[in-house]
Amino acid sequence: MAKKKTTDELPRPGTMQLPPAEVRYADELAALREIDTAPRPAGWQLSPMAVVDFICGTGGERIRPAKGSASTTGPIEITEKFVGPRDILQRCVVTLAGQRGLLLVGEPGTAKSMLGELLAVAISGGGALAVQGTAGTPEDQIRYGWNYAMLLDRGPCEAALVPSPVLTAMRQGRLVRFEEVTRCLPEVQDALISILSERRMMIPELPGDAASVFAAPGFNVIATANLRDRGVSEMSAALKRRFNFETIAPIGDAQREAALVSSAAAASLADGPVPPHVDQSLVQLLVTIFRDLRSGRTDEGWQVNQPSTVMSTAEAVAVASAITREGSFFPSGFDPVSRLPGHLLGVVMKDDAKDRERLLAYWDGPVRRRAEDGGPLWRRLAELRSVLEVS
Ligand SMILES: Nc1ncnc2c1ncn2[C@@H]1O[C@H](COP(=O)(O)OP(=O)(O)OP(=O)(O)O)[C@@H](O)[C@H]1O
Ligand SMILES: [Mg+2]
Repeated sequence: MAKKKTTDELPRPGTMQLPPAEVRYADELAALREIDTAPRPAGWQLSPMAVVDFICGTGGERIRPAKGSASTTGPIEITEKFVGPRDILQRCVVTLAGQRGLLLVGEPGTAKSMLGELLAVAISGGGALAVQGTAGTPEDQIRYGWNYAMLLDRGPCEAALVPSPVLTAMRQGRLVRFEEVTRCLPEVQDALISILSERRMMIPELPGDAASVFAAPGFNVIATANLRDRGVSEMSAALKRRFNFETIAPIGDAQREAALVSSAAAASLADGPVPPHVDQSLVQLLVTIFRDLRSGRTDEGWQVNQPSTVMSTAEAVAVASAITREGSFFPSGFDPVSRLPGHLLGVVMKDDAKDRERLLAYWDGPVRRRAEDGGPLWRRLAELRSVLEVS
């Protein structure tokens, strides 16, 4: 059986462009493991309660290592990583401890993949076992393949087997992530049915007991599916029944979304040459505009013609971080608000040429009305309308 990786063997943060969650949150995970005395499902590294705390945070409260423990960290805050209802997380965790897989569905950019990774990290110690679903994903990615040179040389044997991430997760009793499962061909997706119901994979080419692999305790599947590309409608009923569905919605509260955009943008720039200063007026404007365009309605009750593009929180973070980066590279006379319309156009203009008109209509409606009501930043934005026009 392959050896499990421990956090001690992971690369150091400064050596990676995007460190995995087990590296970024190594201290929090270690602290939680130390104080976590609640019962754990077999094969889990943390109890269900500690998993939810890891992802939703402990509300600013610092946790202290147990007296007499060999801990090297002092009291530590468990940060909020997923902004959303705690009861969703509780249901996800309960599902993963049971006999069905977990399917996270929702619009793009609602943190489904992030949630999948965090759950895998908290429960299994890492999120690296993952399959990326595409129209070209072969069944090998779910079951196993062969090293053909070795297969010809030695015949079918364990050494010639190339296990899929799913098979490795079964053997090691870990969670495996299946990103965008609905993009795979239905017959490929259906390879999961027997794995999820029997918790066993047959490898008929191998002799004797090696021909069947039984999932070790702790194994389960976290899949994600995007409602925009290819929804869950093409998934077979048999496979749907093997998953508990959990819908992840955009962040409900404007202030929580603004706080997240600000902190996620700052975090994405933390390794850069200049300490990031994310302009708070910019974030407030950005989040208001994204929410108006996403929902088709402003807080004042005005109707908004929605663009066809998804105005996701993930995109808002990307815009806030791009404008902040620009300000750190070109600081002289930099006005973050003046950069907003150009970036917004980049987000909106993806699929439908009419989206430019929709954005202009938003400028001629809510932006202009707020400018007339005396908002100085909205006035500034209204003056920048020409940036949105075809040049
Ligand atoms: N509710 C949320 N809590 C925390 N972060 C969020 C939330 N919603 C969006 N984000 C931000 O969005 C980023 C990207 O999310 P992620 O890629 O996981 O979305 P996704 O739902 O998997 O999107 P897609 O369907 O396009 O794959 C996160 O890293 C985070 O910055
Ligand atoms: Mg995703």
